[in-house]
Amino acid sequence: MISKIEELRQQIKSLQAANEQELEALRIKFLSKKGEIAALMNDFRSVPADMKREVGMKINALKQEATDHINQLRASLATKEDDSLDTLDLTRTPYPAELGTRHPLTIVRNRIIDIFSRMGFTLADGPEVEDDWHVYGSMNFADDHPARDMQDTFYVQGGPSMLLRSHTSSVQSRVMEVTEPPIRVICPGRVYRNEAISARAHCFFHQVEGLYVDEKVTFTDLKQVLLTFARELFGADTEIRLRPSYFPFTEPSAEMDVSCQLCHGEGCSMCKGTGWLEILGCGMVHPRVLELNGIDSEKYTGFAFGMGIERIANLLYRVRDLRMFSENDVRFLDEFQAAY
Ligand code: DAH
Repeated sequence: MISKIEELRQQIKSLQAANEQELEALRIKFLSKKGEIAALMNDFRSVPADMKREVGMKINALKQEATDHINQLRASLATKEDDSLDTLDLTRTPYPAELGTRHPLTIVRNRIIDIFSRMGFTLADGPEVEDDWHVYGSMNFADDHPARDMQDTFYVQGGPSMLLRSHTSSVQSRVMEVTEPPIRVICPGRVYRNEAISARAHCFFHQVEGLYVDEKVTFTDLKQVLLTFARELFGADTEIRLRPSYFPFTEPSAEMDVSCQLCHGEGCSMCKGTGWLEILGCGMVHPRVLELNGIDSEKYTGFAFGMGIERIANLLYRVRDLRMFSENDVRFLDEFQAAY
């Protein structure tokens, strides 16, 4: 019996546990009601009376030693886990998060929307596959008017006079035919033209159209809204210049230039020495366009404008090749980290 006790003592002294489960298995093996030490206690009855005292003391001491040893193992397991908690930074991002970036055209479009929203404009849109009436007819392009040749249109096969809209001015018509003035909308969207693709032209691009119709709207309103827009977009020291132009849907019509932000009017390669950069077309809505779209031109007047988003993005970011906007090269897209 004494040697059995000594044997168990040695065994217990060298016990190790790598984790909670192993430790629990050891506890059950030695200290539970059916464990090795309990078995010793059962055998205690057969110990001769003169040895009971010595053996009893040894068994009690063994039980104490086993309990201590297992508690010690438990304590060291706990500190091991604490150590790993110490080196674990719970505030760290769990993995290097690859965040996407907004497309440069989205950034510019959102900035334009933001500026006009603050001036009270709301958003409108219309279909990209449009009919001839909304793109041309209702915008005062006569059937044989040479202005139709200004845009090389993609026609949709099968549909009679269905086409891919060549400008967002079609949305002006979509809005006017269902809205009683006051109207104050901008319409961002994609447009299509049958152009040979190069660094400076593409078969699709993006525009933002603007339309403002109310009583007593004048050219002064047009000029002030566009000046405010230009200064918000390009900086407070920006000047604008309106040059007479022609569009079938506006009269009078103008093209707007902004002062070159690179040379501030001195003349440089970006503005080709002129000090000015053309950014949009605009004008007073032709009375005939109002009438064609169900609006009383005796009561209401309005102004409209249209700009290319790629053109403006080029000025803001100096993108040399238009094709980069639609190639989705991640090295290009990653350059744009704006908040918009
Ligand atoms: N639709 C014209 C274009 O695509 C741009 C334009 C010019 C829009 C004058 C307008 C405007 O609303 O008033 O070239």
